[in-house]
Amino acid sequence: MNHGTAKAKELPSLLVDAIRTGEVMDGEGKIKPLDSNVSEAEAMLLFEAVRQLRPERSVEVGLANGISTLAILGALEANGFGLHTVIDPFQSNYGDTGIAMVARAGLETRWEFHRKFAEEVIPGLPPIQFAFIDASHLFDLTLMEFVLVDKKLEVGGVVGFHDLWMPSLQAVYRYIVRNRSYEVWNPLGQRPATRNRGGWRRLVRRMLTGIDPVRKILTPEFAAPWAEEGLGNLILLRKTAEDHRGWTFHEPF
Ligand SMILES: C[S@@+](CC[C@H](N)C(=O)[O-])C[C@H]1O[C@@H](n2cnc3c(N)ncnc32)[C@H](O)[C@@H]1O
Repeated sequence: MNHGTAKAKELPSLLVDAIRTGEVMDGEGKIKPLDSNVSEAEAMLLFEAVRQLRPERSVEVGLANGISTLAILGALEANGFGLHTVIDPFQSNYGDTGIAMVARAGLETRWEFHRKFAEEVIPGLPPIQFAFIDASHLFDLTLMEFVLVDKKLEVGGVVGFHDLWMPSLQAVYRYIVRNRSYEVWNPLGQRPATRNRGGWRRLVRRMLTGIDPVRKILTPEFAAPWAEEGLGNLILLRKTAEDHRGWTFHEPF
């Protein structure tokens, strides 16, 4: 069901104020600069995703100052149901600000928080319909978190990733869309705009990637430049089928 496009006024006011002032209050009531967060536009994308998906259960890895968490919790509150599990073993590095923000927004009934690693929590969760990963940003740990999420994510469910400017996250994206049954999903219904970087470059690339031994030595960025994916810094991937790969399956990414 489409509930229309999220507007900033639908986001929790604490979230909007924090982004616009660039300040948050930590667990001891001290004001400190906001950092590490999703942007207001990205928060609206998360809000809209959760409004449309209407998850009963969702999970997030990486709390920090709680900006993305507030967007997700605000949408669950607007839906009128849903419980969001948030995982972050390093919340004390942020002065427990994320926890304080959720309490100050009055959204505590919509979440449970674990000061643990994803592998200690996700295997014990029931089926989920939405997940957001914005944690270590390391390739292997992010892929591990994706695999843990995928085991619980129902078909039709969505997993989001932040900071796609980073090569590690771009590699995670490439792995997933080439090897697993996931597709890019945009709750606002816009198709990614593929940037045309010039015909001759594309032609040369097609010729080179068509020669098998050459393809093996080309970098992924040369073979499929990130800029040409036409995607933003926050991506949402929808699970389209259960995993039925044979044991020899592998698509280079
Ligand atoms: C970029 S911040 C998340 C920002 C948040 N999405 C927001 O919009 O406010 C990354 C967070 O991931 C946490 N983190 C780092 N490594 C982690 C790991 N291995 N598992 C879980 N969380 C981790 C950090 O403590 C930090 O809070």
